[in-house]
Amino acid sequence: MNRREHLQGLAGFLAGSPVAAGWQDPGRALSIGDMINVFDFDTACRHRVARDAYDYISGGAEDEFTLRRNRSAFGRITFRPRMLVDVSRLDMSIELFGTESEMPVFVAPTGSHGRAHPEGEPATARGAGAAKTIMAVSSSSSFPIEQIAKAATGPLWFQLYAGPDAEGTRERVARAVGSGCKAVLFTVDAPYFPHRERDLRNRLIRPEVQRELAGRRRRPDEPDNTRYGLPQRFTATLTWSFLRQVAGYAKVPVLAKGILTPADANLAVENGAAGIVVSNHGGRYLDGAPSTIEMLPSIVETVNGRVPVLMDGGIRRGTDVLKALASGARAVFVGRPPLWGLGAFGTPGVTRVLTLLQAELALAMGLAGVPNLAAIKRDLIAVDR
Ligand SMILES: Cc1cc2nc3c(=O)[nH]c(=O)nc-3n(C[C@H](O)[C@H](O)[C@H](O)COP(=O)(O)O)c2cc1C
Repeated sequence: MNRREHLQGLAGFLAGSPVAAGWQDPGRALSIGDMINVFDFDTACRHRVARDAYDYISGGAEDEFTLRRNRSAFGRITFRPRMLVDVSRLDMSIELFGTESEMPVFVAPTGSHGRAHPEGEPATARGAGAAKTIMAVSSSSSFPIEQIAKAATGPLWFQLYAGPDAEGTRERVARAVGSGCKAVLFTVDAPYFPHRERDLRNRLIRPEVQRELAGRRRRPDEPDNTRYGLPQRFTATLTWSFLRQVAGYAKVPVLAKGILTPADANLAVENGAAGIVVSNHGGRYLDGAPSTIEMLPSIVETVNGRVPVLMDGGIRRGTDVLKALASGARAVFVGRPPLWGLGAFGTPGVTRVLTLLQAELALAMGLAGVPNLAAIKRDLIAVDR
């Protein structure tokens, strides 16, 4: 299929009809097999799911500066590929915290999969399992963790939003670990709910936030941030000692998700984090935060091998994964891509997004002269100034 035919086909598919005139195989709507890269899934999802759901998945905070920068920063990195290396046996399998995966690309925790597809997280979990990789389940999932774990065909990790209080947090961790989740990602970058303006325009603010805004009664000793339009949130009271507490009772490794500076990476390790996830929440919280790929090297340097460093944000290509690994990440997460796959095609869409990224990574490794993950070193890349 050449590019012109592909675009014609895509247009036909998007119109919800058999493919457009000129298509080589008339009468056949474009299928999942016609998706040749992750961006095709974005387009397909946009036309398959409700507008407000698509905006929820794809949007970012305020001006979406950080959202764009997560992508554009990859453009400043180029490879220094090596030639005449035997790359006939490519291996990208990985084991982290006792969990095995066939690729260093995991499903990031994202909320409300039921907005993308009626089968929600159970469908995503089956899709990730079929791709033989790890799925991190969000605290804000549309389905209970027990139900997701029952449907899962592969390993699960759990993402923790603290709240509604210390006891509630502990219970949530116990339920997830009891359901078989092998690690906890404690999200540290969300003390307040952000302004995602696409969601505000679509009137898609989460109901619990609306309720909080409408005013639970404030204790006299609590600061009154409601005058700034900010709800009182348990998460806004948390400091590093809370990470230490969670790491103390979780019974599985606890990673700090949302680290953007070497100083915080140090604090996370000192307070019991078994791993660091360099993340800006996909550009959905503090707009103006730096891209993750640009912060990754200095964080890896500071952590200096004490714990594994993972990252997410803007990964859309196998070459992006390779750049992140060469920058020192042990593995990466993808947030929006599996949701686009889920919204467009359900479980098979999730699997295909992940296996596409895996295939692109294999090709990039082969062409760059690195047959396995251990061979990926910092000198594989150079960063433009
Ligand atoms: C729709 C959506 C919902 C998200 N929900 C959560 C969440 O519940 N908890 C969390 O820690 N991160 C959440 N994230 C952030 C992701 O875990 C991840 O950091 C981010 O999506 C990575 O960027 P990417 O989408 O460019 O791959 C969400 C991201 C998206 C796109």
